[in-house]
Amino acid sequence: MPPSETLIPEAELQVVRKSLPHDSAPRHVTGSAAYIDDIREPQGTLHIAPGYAPIASGRITALDLSAVRAAPGVVAVMTAEDIPGANDISPKLVGDDPALAVGEIRFHGQVVFIVIAETRDLARRATRKAKYTTEAAVPVIDVSEASELVLPEYAFVQGDPDAALEAAPVSFSDTFRIGGQEHFYLEGQIAMAVPGEAGEMFVYSSTQHPSEVQHLVAHALHLPSSAVTVEIRRMGGAFGGKESQASQWAVLAALAAWKTGAPCKMRLDRDDDMMMTGKRHDFRVGYRVGHDEAGVLQSVDVTFDARCGHSEDLSMGVVDRTMFHADNSYFYPQTRILTRRYRTNTCSNTAFRGFGGPQGMVFAERMMDQIAYRLGMDPLDVRKANFYAGRGRDLTPYGQQVSDNLLHELVAELEADCDYRARRAEIAAWNAESRILKRGLALTPVKFGISFTLMPLNQAGALVHLYRDGSLHLNHGGTEMGQGLFLKVAQVVAEEFGVDMGKVAITATRTDKVPNTSPTAASSGTDLNAMAALAACGEIKDRLFAFIEQKWRVRRDQVRFRDNRVFFGNQSLSLAELASAAYAERIQLSSAGYYRTPIIAWNRDKAEGRPFLYYAYGASCSEVTIDTMTGEMKVDRVDVLHDVGKSLNPAIDIGQIEGGFVQGMGWLTTEELVWDKQGRLRTHAPSTYKIPTASDIPEHFVVKLFQSEGAREKTIYRSKAVGEPPLMLPISVWCAVANAIASLGPGVVPDLDAPATPEAIMKAVRGARSGGN
Ligand code: MTE
Ligand code: MOS
Repeated sequence: MPPSETLIPEAELQVVRKSLPHDSAPRHVTGSAAYIDDIREPQGTLHIAPGYAPIASGRITALDLSAVRAAPGVVAVMTAEDIPGANDISPKLVGDDPALAVGEIRFHGQVVFIVIAETRDLARRATRKAKYTTEAAVPVIDVSEASELVLPEYAFVQGDPDAALEAAPVSFSDTFRIGGQEHFYLEGQIAMAVPGEAGEMFVYSSTQHPSEVQHLVAHALHLPSSAVTVEIRRMGGAFGGKESQASQWAVLAALAAWKTGAPCKMRLDRDDDMMMTGKRHDFRVGYRVGHDEAGVLQSVDVTFDARCGHSEDLSMGVVDRTMFHADNSYFYPQTRILTRRYRTNTCSNTAFRGFGGPQGMVFAERMMDQIAYRLGMDPLDVRKANFYAGRGRDLTPYGQQVSDNLLHELVAELEADCDYRARRAEIAAWNAESRILKRGLALTPVKFGISFTLMPLNQAGALVHLYRDGSLHLNHGGTEMGQGLFLKVAQVVAEEFGVDMGKVAITATRTDKVPNTSPTAASSGTDLNAMAALAACGEIKDRLFAFIEQKWRVRRDQVRFRDNRVFFGNQSLSLAELASAAYAERIQLSSAGYYRTPIIAWNRDKAEGRPFLYYAYGASCSEVTIDTMTGEMKVDRVDVLHDVGKSLNPAIDIGQIEGGFVQGMGWLTTEELVWDKQGRLRTHAPSTYKIPTASDIPEHFVVKLFQSEGAREKTIYRSKAVGEPPLMLPISVWCAVANAIASLGPGVVPDLDAPATPEAIMKAVRGARSGGN
């Protein structure tokens, strides 16, 4: 790990901290940025379509594929029997997730066979000709019907929450629902496999986790990992949906390429993608809360029941993160946070921006609101009274000390900046005059832990070449999905060599350049890969320093790489001149860098340690208007103040905050997944599943970065991760809706589920009007 002292001093920075546009921005908007479907297909490329189970649970007793095989353009049809190696796409190879189902069917949409044909259209048409004989069983769809778990129950316990609840002056209990979310990446799942001359396989995969795709393809084909190479230049969005769930399509493409000897491409149709791939976990939450008359928590006992779908997938890490964030920003003196991960006959739920954390936080914020409404207090005051604070109030339910707490400062700044108190009074007066329309206001915080909670993932590698003409080639294990990771890492490299960004070639992620990589996830892409790249640059520079010292007798502390030149003593060379001179003296100009996150440690069995290197903080204040006759809702104003440490690139960070906010707002307001009793997803297209559009962005939407000295730990240039934390900011929108409903009368405690669709709003309004909670 490079000590941060090796970084360029703050005052000399030339590239880092600049608001540079995304490196592919012009290509994104002109359409010349190549996604996998844009790569020119090798001659003779065949196309794959999935044939899927017509039932959600039960058995296929007979499958007649003769008409499929005879259909026009069909080259081959494959079932599980045709797989030479392992029929398993589960992330940990636990064997609970077949690439092609055999016999038992676990969910409606499970892939049973694939058709390989001359065109995608012909392949799709052929799949419809399959004749199934099935023995259907009654599917388990909702957690309320489920009894089987995909993983054992798991809990964090501090103190004696039962006794504390007994002793608390005020207590209550409640249950509610938090919905799931479809990723709706613009580029759907896709892979193209090209067989090599000696049985090896080259796979283009739209994946956040190329190494895992490599390993799973190798297992399926019974090849060593070294015979499989996976490449991804960019994804058209992923949001967690391509962390584990890109594998299946890559494995199937590789199987088809192996079987036919031809390049094979598999691009899922949007409806199939929505039916077949996992989503954000939805939850039933039950809780008991004890607090004092000032609204300060004494006991929190909460149970999260997660719908995991038919297999384990990433439900360990995802639902653990729900637990890690069930406190959000609040100190729980005595607590039990219990999770039950149910197996259901639905698609296998997976990573989604925030990785389970958002669901934990929605619970915490609902609880804060309820305490406030029950006590007749302003919800912001209850929140502040429960914030993590100094000694005695700084331990999380999992034992990590909150030592970098920015909550008080950050929230106070936003509160003043957005005029919270005056608007609160103005809205109350307005609501008193308005019978049908009601306005609501809420200010909610975010505290999000940064690091993978699965410890081995907290490492990264990079590869940097300096060529003799002074240009640089950069590669690392992180993947680009629109978040600007490649740009940020390139900024760090350009800074190290003192060159313009144009001198640093940003290249596709490939498993043969940097091996054994972690998924680009947990918002840690820049934290990990920029450090690895920095280490690689540092090694090359060390060799150049030694060369300069030996040849020109100038010590390394007298050497500066800046303005596209290298300055030492009273002379300077262009980087090209220095590289050429070093080359002539046979000095290696290439290096692999490596980084592992320091300090962290987490023992899941004992539930102790320090899982997170640091926390990222943020807060937002949202104002909404609801129509109590129709349930319609409009977000009128949003103000955000978010902590990214000291930003590597403010423009990119603000983009992540805006995008994350709107995506989270969609989850909590309009996006609703509906399965019918037969386990068929009824919301498998944008016609029935409502994601936010440009016109849903509030008219007043102001995002500011919290100014500070940066991360306390030695992160890359003291920046903080930004990918996921902003997704949780729009919980303030959901709480503002509840606030508008609370205005219907004194003592109303809104009973609002998430998402706050018009139906959910009407249900809560009716509940409030009938005087009940
Ligand atoms: N931003 C864009 N534009 N597209 C994406 O798919 N994924 C999010 C976030 N921001 C995503 C995104 C998720 S889920 C994560 S974990 C991080 O980016 C991953 O990238 P990072 O670690 O480089 O922040
Ligand atoms: Mo992000 S959910 O960690 O891919």
